[in-house]
Amino acid sequence: MKVKITVNGKIATFDQSKHNSLLEALEQQGFEPHFHCRDGFCGACRCKLVSGSIDYTLEPIAFIHQGEVLTCCAVPNSEIEIDLDH
Ligand code: FES
Repeated sequence: MKVKITVNGKIATFDQSKHNSLLEALEQQGFEPHFHCRDGFCGACRCKLVSGSIDYTLEPIAFIHQGEVLTCCAVPNSEIEIDLDH
């Protein structure tokens, strides 16, 4: 499955055969998202989910508000738009 991801207005792709998480997809396409634990724990990778929906590959422990996503443990299940500067 490949889905379009819009990141701060730029177009990228999430490819399920290449990327285990949204964070990996961002890194491999030249973005520099914040991260620390890569395990849903610290919240450093938190960013704004502008539109679309995601699934978590593991239950996130870090606190997230409505409309936010932890990129280290999320995969998009539709076309999504995120804002890394949020
Ligand atoms: S990098 Fe720590 S929660 Fe994502």
